[in-house]
Amino acid sequence: MARVIGTEAVEDGWRRGRTVLEVLPGDIVTEMARETAVRLGVRLADGPVERPVPVRTDGVTAMRRSLYRRSARWVAPARTVQPRARRFSRLAIIGAGGVGSNIAHLAANADIGDEIVLVDIVRGVAAATALDLNHAAGMTGTGARCLGGEDPGLISGADVVVVTAGRARMPGMDRAELIDVNRRTVHAAAEAIRTQAPRAVVIVVTNPLDEMTLEMLRATGFPRERVLGMAGTLDSSRFRAALAMAAGVAPADVDAIALGSHGDEMAPILSLARIKGHPLSKFLTDDRIEACVRDAVTGGGQILALRRSGSATVAPAHATVEVLDHIRGARAGPVPVSVMLAGEYGIDGVVLGVPAHVGPTGLVEVEILQLTKAERAALVSAAEAVRARLSR
Ligand code: LAC
Repeated sequence: MARVIGTEAVEDGWRRGRTVLEVLPGDIVTEMARETAVRLGVRLADGPVERPVPVRTDGVTAMRRSLYRRSARWVAPARTVQPRARRFSRLAIIGAGGVGSNIAHLAANADIGDEIVLVDIVRGVAAATALDLNHAAGMTGTGARCLGGEDPGLISGADVVVVTAGRARMPGMDRAELIDVNRRTVHAAAEAIRTQAPRAVVIVVTNPLDEMTLEMLRATGFPRERVLGMAGTLDSSRFRAALAMAAGVAPADVDAIALGSHGDEMAPILSLARIKGHPLSKFLTDDRIEACVRDAVTGGGQILALRRSGSATVAPAHATVEVLDHIRGARAGPVPVSVMLAGEYGIDGVVLGVPAHVGPTGLVEVEILQLTKAERAALVSAAEAVRARLSR
């Protein structure tokens, strides 16, 4: 019987982790459902779609198999069908300094797209990095071709533009002290993006992160869905690494996120943090937990103090690639990003780090976590601090 496939059916499939939805002859797909499918990265495939042939086996084998499965040694078989990640046709990175070139390196190694384009105003830097990466392709075998130069026109038609351009802090400097100088850089990048890559999803990495994401949003005039800031993935990673080190466990055993602003008003979420599935207090004293929170908040500053000029590069690049992986469907679930809030967590009209579902067209929805009253209050005061800094 012919079915009407609406937005709900697409969203329902997406929530169940489906990347392909079968459309049988005679089915009616609403226009909204088609738009939702594009937004969520769900492919509408003309059916009937081929299904795997069920494995038939004789009774004895079936019995042995089920007994084996019940044994304590049974582990779930690895998923044979991996969710299909999209490749970008062109990933552009504006700013080929330490963070930008590390992003290009990681993205090329992950074969993230057909082209990785680097743009930098410093003559030769972006072209040299691109050439260097292409030279490595003979060993890595990546299919991603790198291009680099000074011309903003190189970003033309990019599906995602990452902006890392701008001054980094000097030791002892607050990220907020960069507002005036980096605002000009962000506006120049925004102009290039608006004219050359008007359909791109933008990821802002330039500091101060939340403020510059808001500037990018204003300067491009893009909808909030297409302007995201990268900070929460970095802050969360620093927080997890600190907790793992303190508890003497592997980082993979730690589940924890940091939200709020990328700065002093960062909000590592203690109530939801777990080590090996248990609350932090099972492994760490309050003082040690407090020290881990401090490490997450001051992580960037610690690197600056050691390096004396220039900020962290490797972890921010990994964190950016994590956001890119969510956009292209290589990772599932929510990811912390800075977005313009529209009432979520009781905050409106300011950019702040929150967990969100993202897809090929950017923000899909902000995930609302059950936070404690104090954690919600911390987010609200972080929002007020960002707002106040921008109106100064
Ligand atoms: C950091 C800079 C990139 O946190 O903000 O390392």
